[in-house]
Amino acid sequence: MSRYEKLFKKKRIEDYNYLLAKEQPLSYGTESLQKTILNLEFSNVDNKFKTIQVTSTTQSEGKTTVISNLAYLLGQRGKKVIVIDLDLRRPKLHHLVRVPNENGLTDYLLGEKKLDEVLETSEQFGFDYLVAGKRITAIANALTSNKLKELFNLLKEKYDYILLDTPPTYLVSDAYYISKIVDGVLYVVGQNIARKREVKEGIHELNKINTPIIGIILSQVKLRNNQRYYYYGS
Ligand SMILES: Nc1ncnc2c1ncn2[C@@H]1O[C@H](COP(=O)(O)OP(=O)(O)O)[C@@H](O)[C@H]1O
Ligand SMILES: [Mg+2]
Repeated sequence: MSRYEKLFKKKRIEDYNYLLAKEQPLSYGTESLQKTILNLEFSNVDNKFKTIQVTSTTQSEGKTTVISNLAYLLGQRGKKVIVIDLDLRRPKLHHLVRVPNENGLTDYLLGEKKLDEVLETSEQFGFDYLVAGKRITAIANALTSNKLKELFNLLKEKYDYILLDTPPTYLVSDAYYISKIVDGVLYVVGQNIARKREVKEGIHELNKINTPIIGIILSQVKLRNNQRYYYYGS
């Protein structure tokens, strides 16, 4: 087993408190993530992509991992970044930043907290974040609410990038609701996880909505020596 794989198997990584880009800045994985950012910045010379949704076909393909590494690297490049956990069914961002899933997006949308009470900064990772917040059942209502749209508009004034960790496209409609109110989508495909037909279907359905898919990130790509990397294409 490679050193890289061993590191990914350690508990701290499953806890999402391990950022490859931070801990192994010279690794091939980080290099691929850097290329992803260069591509992103290149397609974004006019700053038209501010709210960026990261989704995938199914769970565990690498969305949260990709988003946290991208946020960290963009922060390193001097960009003002916020990560929002819009995966209201399986929230994970709070594990990465090691806080309880309290005072988050849903609490703000319900009017129980003010914006400055829910926005936090991770000194460790160099980006701001907004955790999912209290569990709610009316998820579709929250994701299609005007208050969420208005929140994006408010945040656009303050940040260069608003990166949205969102549920997968398969089985639930959440990802599609979100894609209607964002500037662009990054689609993560974990190797050998979702079925090809399901991946195609997810991308096809997203294409029906007029939001551009800025890129497709292949994650957990197994190379000859069994290491797993990222690959970016658009
Ligand atoms: N490029 C990668 N190489 C190896 N393991 C990875 C990679 N990306 C993610 N993982 C691991 O796969 C699991 C699922 O990743 P995660 O980012 O939580 O997926 P999602 O957010 O899509 O559900 C985690 O345990 C994570 O550490
Ligand atoms: Mg996730």
